[in-house]
Amino acid sequence: PESATPTKPKQRYPGENKGFVEEMRFVAMKLHTKDQAKEGEKQADVQPVAKWEPTIAGFIKFLVNSKAVFDCMEEIMATASHPSYAEFRNTGLERSAALSKDLEWLKSQGNEIPEPSEEGITYAELLKNLSESDPPAFICHFYNVYFAHSAGGRFIGKKVCESVLEGKELEFYKWEGDLSTTLAAVKEKLNKVAEEWTRDQKNHCLEETELSFKYSGKLLRLIIS
Ligand code: HEM
Repeated sequence: PESATPTKPKQRYPGENKGFVEEMRFVAMKLHTKDQAKEGEKQADVQPVAKWEPTIAGFIKFLVNSKAVFDCMEEIMATASHPSYAEFRNTGLERSAALSKDLEWLKSQGNEIPEPSEEGITYAELLKNLSESDPPAFICHFYNVYFAHSAGGRFIGKKVCESVLEGKELEFYKWEGDLSTTLAAVKEKLNKVAEEWTRDQKNHCLEETELSFKYSGKLLRLIIS
């Protein structure tokens, strides 16, 4: 039946009442598969983590390429080609220094540390370009890279370290101070930045989530390569 009022209802966006980070989270969670996270809705295109057979060489490739991505992210914050990025310096989520220590340790154990490959280099290039040309899209990657690592990434890391490093806890998976407090502070900053955006810019940011999953997914798959 036709509505009695001719005015179009305002479009609602899931999570919007709690701030923009909740909107980004909602889109991200749907892009997981059911076996990855309860809220996941995507069809699986890679075997469940429980069935992964990681190798130490594959894991090292993942760490090296992750470092290329985190180095780039942290360099972008340091340079802050867009003033809002300066907000995200020294948040406590930085991973570059921790990864350096881990790779040094792995080397001291007799492992060969390769150079970053296409997966990390291409993603870092994309991030650098977006950071200059398209801040809302870049912020989507920023959110997903750091928050995914603190959520599923951490859980994957623990399992892989148990399997190929006899349970050694890498610095990559340790944060100084209380992680949930750090994450909450970064969420608040992200929400503030997004308050300056138009609805179109917000939608554009949300649409970038898929690409973020594509690139980070390629990095994760290095673990089983
Ligand atoms: C959250 C698993 C890949 C982005 C989560 C959570 C789990 C998870 C268990 C926590 C859900 C909750 O809060 O109850 C996984 C697994 C993955 C994977 C097993 C791959 C095998 C990814 C990728 C991205 C991503 C590739 C994007 C780059 C996120 C984000 C959150 C999240 C943004 C929300 C974090 C928060 O609420 O603070 N994931 N994930 N995940 N994941 Fe993933």
